[in-house]
Order: sequence, then structure tokens, then C-alpha cells
Amino acid sequence: MSDSVVKAGVFLLVLLGAFLWIGKAITDLTGGEKTASAVVEVSPEGGEAVYWGKGRCFTCHSMGDRGSAVRGPNHGQFGERFPLAMGERAVERAKARSAKTGKEFTAVDYLVESLSDPGVYVVTGYKNEMAVTYAPPISLNLDEIKAVVSYLQIQGGDLDMVAIDTEPSDITKGFYDKIGAAQAAGGGDPGKGAEVFADNCSDCHMLNGEGGEVGPKLTGIAAKGLKHIDESIRRPAAKVVAGFEYHEVVRKDGRKFAGLKTRDEADEIDITKADGDVVTIAKAEIKEIVLDKTKTVMPSDLIEALTVKDFQDVLSFLMLQKAPPAAQQAEKEK
Ligand code: HEC
Ligand code: HEC
Repeated sequence: MSDSVVKAGVFLLVLLGAFLWIGKAITDLTGGEKTASAVVEVSPEGGEAVYWGKGRCFTCHSMGDRGSAVRGPNHGQFGERFPLAMGERAVERAKARSAKTGKEFTAVDYLVESLSDPGVYVVTGYKNEMAVTYAPPISLNLDEIKAVVSYLQIQGGDLDMVAIDTEPSDITKGFYDKIGAAQAAGGGDPGKGAEVFADNCSDCHMLNGEGGEVGPKLTGIAAKGLKHIDESIRRPAAKVVAGFEYHEVVRKDGRKFAGLKTRDEADEIDITKADGDVVTIAKAEIKEIVLDKTKTVMPSDLIEALTVKDFQDVLSFLMLQKAPPAAQQAEKEK
């Protein structure tokens, strides 16, 4: 090997090394290759970090003098309107609930419910616009939620880590199960989800006044929870929405029609097919009508047709469909 070839080889190696080193330095600078969020400790300190950080609670809430947001109640003891800080307030709210329902309901149950299903109890004077904190765009995981609950509880209350973490009540555990399912859905981008919905779903589903009418309206569908929505798409036939059962009609001449029975009169019926076409069939021509509970008009192969990302995006989009009761009412009356 000639001297110049060896030199060129050494030069290339040095160059390559420099490239690798620069590359690594940049990766380190930008926070390495970690894409998952940092692990949060289930403690009030961990919760404080979530509250003023990823949880974005501070965009709507203040804590006493700290913060300036007023869309949601102040979580500290603050002025005449908030005589009790959140830890103590939760105890009072829980007592009131127990008295009303006759069932045991704890302060931790109240705090976990506030984060998971805020519409159940809406604080007087506020709108039902608190975010579901385990759904996009906030997407807190279970540990982050437990941490925030502990942070809220020490605001004037006694920390109960047993109830928060090690031995949750049945009510709290029910919420934790939902949060776990949301985590399993892996977050998602609701903006992209709106496009996925328009491309794959809106021919059949009406949402906020727009779309087809083959399937049920999905306005306010978030109220049914992530698990239900997830399963409705993965296994639509497993639990068919009442009133949308799959019917198969066999005419005396042997022709078959399948779809939803959307009209049933003395002498004829309407079958709405998956493509939205409506077929009217005279009862005199019908040999038999079979209500098949193992089938549905909603396509069962959507989960294969969508990419994993599309699926998560559309899930997150639907989890944001929290219609104010007024809009749902208006849609019903249409
Ligand atoms: C988009 C604004 C918004 C965000 C973000 C938000 N909240 Fe709220 N929150 C509200 C509103 C409005 C209410 C009052 C209505 C209700 O009770 O649902 C509320 C109510 C609450 C309550 C009940 C208060 C009481 O007096 O009983 C708790 C607890 C709570 N939020 C915690 C949180 C936490 C923790 C976060 C962050 C993880 C958070 N919120 C993020 C708007 C928000
Ligand atoms: C060919 C028409 C059709 C298409 C396309 C379709 N669906 Fe459906 N969907 C239905 C019908 C009919 C039902 C009711 C029967 C059932 O539960 O399976 C339904 C039920 C649902 C439910 C349950 C609603 C409730 O009130 O519990 C959800 C959620 C849903 N669909 C979401 C979707 C999403 C998301 C897409 C697109 C990715 C989609 N659907 C595409 C027809 C359709």
C-alpha cells in the first residue's frame, strides 16, 4: 500500500470520528434520544412540577397568590370566594357527596374524579370546560395524576398516600383503570385526528351538526369514555349501539338486503345500507327478517385500514368531543 493511500485512509477515519463526535454532542445537547417524558415521582413535589409544567393546570388555575389564571377555581385559600384551600375543600365536597348519595366518597375520590371526569361535578359559577387530564392534549399518565392529587391534597389537607397510591378505593380504582387505558392508547394528535375522522368516519357519523346519518351521532361522545370509543372502533360488533342493530332481510324471490331497519310500517320497511342507500321493501315480499347480533353496519376492518398513528389521532380527537349540554340538546331537537 502506498504511503499516500494510508494517509488518505487515516484522514478519512479522523473525519468520520469527528462526524460521530459532533453528532453525539448534538444529540446530548438536544436532550439525548429520550422521547418518553421523564418519570415523575408520586409525591407532592412531583405533583407540583406537573401542575406548573406538563399538566398545564396553571393555564386555568391559580394557587393562592401564585399564578394569575381565573378560568378555573383558585386551588389555594384565596379571598372570600375560596375560604378553604383545595385539600380541605375536597374533604367538604366529598362529605356533601356522601350525604347526597348515601355512599362513601372520599376526598381522594373527589380529586381523582376532578382530574378524570370533571363534568360529574361542576363547581358553581364555572363552565364545564375543565380538561380531561389523561386525554390529549394534556395526556398525563397515572403516576403524574397521582402526584398532582397528592400536591392538591397537601393544600390545607392531610396527605393520604395509602388512598392515593397503595390501596385506592373502588371509585378511585375505577378512574385509574380508565387512565391506564388512555395511556395505552399512546396519546395522539387531535388535529390530525379530525382529518382521519373526515376521511374515514364522517360519511356515516354526524358530529357537531356535520356528517352522514347512517351511524349514531358522535357529538359529546367523549362522555362515553376512551375504552368505549376504542372498542367501538376495534370491535364494532361486540357491543352494538341500541337502535342500530344489523338486520338481514330475505325476500321471497331470494334477494337479500342487509343494514339498519330505519322504518317499520304496517305494510313496508326501510333498510338503510352501509353506503347510506335506503331500500324500501313491501312486507308482503319478505320471507324473513333476521336481527343478527353478531354483526354491525359499522365496518369491522377499520382498525386494519388505519395506521396505528391514525387510530391514536382519531381516538384523541374523539376524546375531545365534550359537547356542552346545550349543543347536544339543540342537536336532539333538530
Ligand atoms: C382549560 C382550563 C383548565 C385546565 C387546563 C385545568 N382545569 Fe381544573 N378546572 C377548570 C374549570 C373551569 C373548573 C371548574 C368547573 C368544574 O368543576 O369542572 C375546574 C375544576 C377543577 C377542580 C375542582 C375544584 C373545586 O373547587 O372543587 C380541580 C381539583 C381541578 N380543576 C384540578 C385541575 C388540575 C390538577 C389541572 C391540571 C392537571 C387542571 N385542573 C387543569 C379548568 C381547567
Ligand atoms: C358504514 C358506516 C360507518 C362508518 C364508515 C363508521 N361507522 Fe362508526 N358506527 C356505525 C354504526 C351503524 C354504528 C352503530 C352500531 C354499532 O355500535 O356498531 C357505529 C358506532 C360507532 C361508535 C359508538 C357510538 C356510541 O354512541 O356508542 C363509535 C365511537 C364509532 N362508530 C366511531 C367510528 C369511527 C371513529 C369511524 C371512523 C374511523 C367510524 N365509526 C366509521 C357506522 C359507521
